[in-house]
Amino acid sequence: MEVSEILSRIRAVIVIFYYCSSPVVTALQLKTIYCTISQSCDCDFKPDVQGLEWDLYKNLYGQHLAQEVVSEAVANFLKKESPDIPLVMSFHGASGTGKTLVSSMLGRHLYGAAMGSPYIHQFIPTLHFPLPARAKQYRSELKTWVEGNLTTCARSIFIFDEMETMPLGVIDVLAPFLGPSHVVFQTNYRKAIYIFISTTGEDIINKLTLETRQAGKEREDIQLLDLEAALSQAVFNNKNGGFFRSKIISDRLITHFVPFLPLNRRHVERCARRELCQRGECQRRDVAEAVGSAMTYTPQLFSSTGCKSVPAKVNLFL
Ligand SMILES: Nc1ncnc2c1ncn2[C@@H]1O[C@H](COP(=O)(O)OP(=O)(O)OP(=O)(O)O)[C@@H](O)[C@H]1O
Ligand SMILES: [Mg+2]
Repeated sequence: MEVSEILSRIRAVIVIFYYCSSPVVTALQLKTIYCTISQSCDCDFKPDVQGLEWDLYKNLYGQHLAQEVVSEAVANFLKKESPDIPLVMSFHGASGTGKTLVSSMLGRHLYGAAMGSPYIHQFIPTLHFPLPARAKQYRSELKTWVEGNLTTCARSIFIFDEMETMPLGVIDVLAPFLGPSHVVFQTNYRKAIYIFISTTGEDIINKLTLETRQAGKEREDIQLLDLEAALSQAVFNNKNGGFFRSKIISDRLITHFVPFLPLNRRHVERCARRELCQRGECQRRDVAEAVGSAMTYTPQLFSSTGCKSVPAKVNLFL
């Protein structure tokens, strides 16, 4: 431990003793004070990077890019005690392909508590920001909220699901937090993780997956480089997405674009088999096949709802 860190911890302890003399200071306030002063507070952060890698490898089907990008990005980010910039990932792909599933895996392996941790904040625009006319109010509320939570816990995770329904202009208020320069009152805003999720760009991803198959290649031959620039452009130009002409995109503040490929019948049946095993019915291969044939597929043979309606279909055939 460096001398400056020892001094800063001693300072934190003195301030805490001072505040302890006041009967109205709560445990959370004390923790906030300690975290702000000492810079060494990582909340209940218990990262299990290997557990995350294993979960992605074993339980996420047909998504080699998401497996690689998320594992590597998280491992590299957590290697640094004091990162230069926050980890900012944007998940893209069709419905039911595993975007929300991966965000909950992250929560589980970084905080040991799926979405239940007080340091994982999930926003769904239709719920939290429903009225486009209130964009200005939402901006200031979101900024205050993020600032407050980062002061309590620098290792906070912010998940913005269904970004395509985010009112225009709201998300840009976060641009200063996503860059390299944000350290205020000794709170290191660069330790946070942000995840944006949307279906924007699904047509680009699906088209490339189809072309790859038509060219006789494996879907695993698709590389991130083939999609990254096109996804960035798609979210920037999409009038119905929260990132329309956003500074977050033009300033390249998203550190990783993560494409989710469309799923086909083979993946749907794997989802069904897993669902059956969870119900103690592993041997019912007939049910998995029935679920596979009952699903709707696009003319390109991609499942229209990914694996989303698998549990309902299993109920039907079991
Ligand atoms: N690639 C996958 N591998 C394994 N299971 C999957 C996969 N994709 C989806 N599933 C299953 O389907 C369910 C729904 O997936 P999820 O909620 O992650 O979809 P999504 O991509 O977030 O879709 P939407 O855009 O509609 O929100 C998951 O809980 C999971 O059980
Ligand atoms: Mg989702």
